[in-house]
Amino acid sequence: MSRCCFALFLATVLVAQTPMATKAYHGLRLPLAFFAGNRATLMAKAKAMGSGTLVVVKSMPTQPSSGDGEHLYRQDSDFYYLTGVEEERSIALLDADKGTYTLLVQARDPKREAYTGVRLGLEGAKSKGADEAVEFPAAEKTLGEALKQAKRIVLINNFDDEFRTKVLDVAYPKGTTHAKGAYEKSLVDGRPIVAELRVLKQPCEVEMIQHAVDASIEGHLAAMRGSSTFANEGQVAAALEGTVRSLGARFLSYETIAGAGSNGCVLHYPFNDQAIVPGSLILMDASGEIGYYTSDITRTWPANGRFNPEQRALYDLVLKAQEVGIQELRPGNIHIVSFMKAARIISDGLVDLGLIKGDKEEAFKRGDWNKFLPHGVSHYLGLDVHDAGSYGAPHPFHKHGGSRPLEAGMVLTMEPGIYIAKGMEGVDAKWQGIGIRIEDVILVTSDGPRNLSARLPRRPEDLEKVVREGAKVRR
Ligand code: GLY
Ligand code: MN
Ligand code: MN
Repeated sequence: MSRCCFALFLATVLVAQTPMATKAYHGLRLPLAFFAGNRATLMAKAKAMGSGTLVVVKSMPTQPSSGDGEHLYRQDSDFYYLTGVEEERSIALLDADKGTYTLLVQARDPKREAYTGVRLGLEGAKSKGADEAVEFPAAEKTLGEALKQAKRIVLINNFDDEFRTKVLDVAYPKGTTHAKGAYEKSLVDGRPIVAELRVLKQPCEVEMIQHAVDASIEGHLAAMRGSSTFANEGQVAAALEGTVRSLGARFLSYETIAGAGSNGCVLHYPFNDQAIVPGSLILMDASGEIGYYTSDITRTWPANGRFNPEQRALYDLVLKAQEVGIQELRPGNIHIVSFMKAARIISDGLVDLGLIKGDKEEAFKRGDWNKFLPHGVSHYLGLDVHDAGSYGAPHPFHKHGGSRPLEAGMVLTMEPGIYIAKGMEGVDAKWQGIGIRIEDVILVTSDGPRNLSARLPRRPEDLEKVVREGAKVRR
């Protein structure tokens, strides 16, 4: 190869493999005004409960890994939504009578900070919008007095049960019984209140979700482009994870699912370490998190750049179901109806392909399709990938809820699939070992559904093209 050709080759490879042309989002966070607004909304709700109401919000506890190690700290989503504070061992107190926000934080400690970075301390806490700040251990007394004085404690402590017990002991002192009469304080679970606030996304949240989606799209493209040369699922996962990390994701939105062939039928396949059998499909459900906001995208594509007839027939069916499901995500529509309609497409299509026997209407009613599509197809997405919020009362189609009408500002996924694992009984061998899911992130708007991840190819021809063109660049 001449020097000039080599330079051109190198430039092509660099452009093709380096997603840096895309905007990066390192360290991006929502403005303090967003968190202050959320606190003000919650404070007003607390005030409406009556005098003496104290809201207590606890940060996520640290998570041990092994030995004396800890997992990388991620703040609890409710705590983050209300404070923007990313530091562990923090407690926020909202006094609804006074309208004040007190932040209890870890004490500054130069020796510890040499290992894990600078702590907020009192100054940092105030710079985050706190009216008052107190460091531990003095903060123990502040907390104890506030809990004792309150008539009503609204507790938001998603994961810290030890802390909950401590608050319960104050609200319901040992020895108090129903028989002796009313408790001195009432304890209100604040989580559903915050969950309800989180259901409708504010424009700046949608923007952050879009960044997470955009970074994740680049990750999916990197995995698709490399897949014809990848021998192991680990390389598929790594292509996405390396890309989203390079674009600013500190965390993944959830553990990457990169299953080839029959492994694609394991809904939350966690291992990503098996060889990719030639001719198989790769199902990758993976995303990065930007500024604490998640994405949730799944694509399924042929590792070698060409669907075989069975793979293609099932893929077309899932894509059709997804299109119908997405079109249902509009204001006023009942959430679960999108599932019913997507499931009906899959059920009828499986009858047409001979995978389900009998009359279409009867087969759908019997739920034969459930063996091929054993999960729901849509959930809220935001700070958590399965985001907070109620789906409404149970619906005849789904005992866990789904009767809630959709509203503009909701962000939901649409993710139907068909899974035929190796050895599935009663299914011809030619269909076995095929797992397909297609998942996009949809914003409900007054104009209808807006697919935030539409830029990532979904049509089978387009997927084949991306894989094959990626192969050419890598050859
Ligand atoms: N990635 C998890 C889900 O799709 O719900
Ligand atoms: Mn999902
Ligand atoms: Mn997913």
